[in-house]
Amino acid sequence: MGTGERCVVVSGSWKRREFLKAAALSAAACAPLVVPSSLFGANAPSKRIHVGFIGCGNQSTIDLPAFLGHDDCRVLAVCDVNTASHGYRTADQFLGRKPGRETVNAFYAAKKASGSYKGCDAYNDFRDVLARNDVDAVAVVVPDHWHALMVVAAAKAGKDVYCEKPLSLTIRQGRAMVRAVREHKRILQTGSHYRSSPDNRFGCELVRNGRIGQLQRILTQVAKINAVDPGPGWKPTPMPEGFDYETWLGPAPWAPYHKDRCFYRFRFNLDYSGGQVTNFGAHSNDAAQWAMGSDDSGPIEIEDLGSEWPPKGGLYNTATRTAFRARYANGVELICKTDEPGFGVRFEGSEGWVEYGYQGVKTHPQSLKTSKIGPGEIHLPVSNPRRTTEAGQYHVPDHVRNFLESIRSRQDPVAPVEAGHRSASICHLGNIAMLLKRKLQWDPLKEQFAGDDEANRMLSRPMRPPWKL
Ligand SMILES: NC(=O)c1ccc[n+]([C@@H]2O[C@H](COP(=O)([O-])OP(=O)(O)OC[C@H]3O[C@@H](n4cnc5c(N)ncnc54)[C@H](O)[C@@H]3O)[C@@H](O)[C@H]2O)c1
Repeated sequence: MGTGERCVVVSGSWKRREFLKAAALSAAACAPLVVPSSLFGANAPSKRIHVGFIGCGNQSTIDLPAFLGHDDCRVLAVCDVNTASHGYRTADQFLGRKPGRETVNAFYAAKKASGSYKGCDAYNDFRDVLARNDVDAVAVVVPDHWHALMVVAAAKAGKDVYCEKPLSLTIRQGRAMVRAVREHKRILQTGSHYRSSPDNRFGCELVRNGRIGQLQRILTQVAKINAVDPGPGWKPTPMPEGFDYETWLGPAPWAPYHKDRCFYRFRFNLDYSGGQVTNFGAHSNDAAQWAMGSDDSGPIEIEDLGSEWPPKGGLYNTATRTAFRARYANGVELICKTDEPGFGVRFEGSEGWVEYGYQGVKTHPQSLKTSKIGPGEIHLPVSNPRRTTEAGQYHVPDHVRNFLESIRSRQDPVAPVEAGHRSASICHLGNIAMLLKRKLQWDPLKEQFAGDDEANRMLSRPMRPPWKL
């Protein structure tokens, strides 16, 4: 038994098989029956949630430690089509499945008396992770054009899923993900982790409880593009060794390799993502949906408000300036725009306003900021009720905590699949209206535009064979 480890006395209610398994692992399993609590609690090896982590790029530097930090789960495998390279968001990031595996092995090695651990496997093909019977859940932290294929395959394989935001590449793909998750009775947590931020929750609770009066207008922010387009006339560049580019492209149209196409910067090309609209909008518009309680619905009208797009022929073709308006059936209007500092949402009501973003919460009247949500009022779910501090920086680990709790309880997490789909849908609707530059009528129940075939065709994209949903 390690020094300082808490002990429990084994009661007769434990199943013999469980006890024997624990006893075999513990030198302390002799009379009196005292064994480490880690052998019988949720952290017991037999009860741990086994995770396969797919996508070891930029966001894995946040999400992977968030999984590793929870003792009741164990990352058994990582997967990436890139062996290891630079070329990610920042110059110092050296990422891919090899560094991903080393991160996991080093983390668990540090916890062992021997100081050695080599148990994490690394794969190029995500289907090899899904084929493992000992993997309970997967994290999908790959570019958006892969989300639907991986989520649907994972659901069919009986795995629960933590899928990064924006949940989908298209509205039809999002609906297919909802269907698969529900049909196979899986848990899915969308990586819109601001739902686990106490500030965001408080802001949404103020709105839900009518503290700003009748909600009238919501302003949501997205950041500026933070990369330079190689521009018209760009030429292919050499590919990193050990990078399976063909699989990276997967269902997307074939295109020559360029160093600014794939890692991190994929988000500025419509073949793989939706630009900053879907990237940041999946957070800010998600807050709007949560505050309105419209997780299973959406707006009824969308129109462009002067969006700007890059010149044709460049590598990047997503909006350089986002600007659209969405109207809801209850009269609330949502205006989504490129603005500083890049992430934020402001709710305006008949009696005040509340703002939430990188700078924390601001309210009018100011007294709202310190007001308490009473016992008889609407309370939104707290992702990690065991956390005692309200510090905001914990929200990704708490979002993962909420996912793990949901796997055990089989109850929906704080950002379930339908919510992720509907929040991403607002961003996709915005992109479609901004591209077509006309006002569109949307039926959130049927999920189709009224009398606009061109707009309806933009709800889905063909997949490059052999990939199909
Ligand atoms: N929650 C957040 O705040 C947040 C922040 C950043 C990114 N994200 C999301 O995370 C996802 C990944 O973004 P990123 O910035 O990490 O991108 P990235 O390009 O830095 O990393 C993605 C990794 O996935 C790998 N990959 C691509 N296709 C694969 C496949 N078929 N199988 C296995 N691996 C594959 C790539 O090789 C790459 O290493 C995106 O959906 C993005 O929107 C979320």
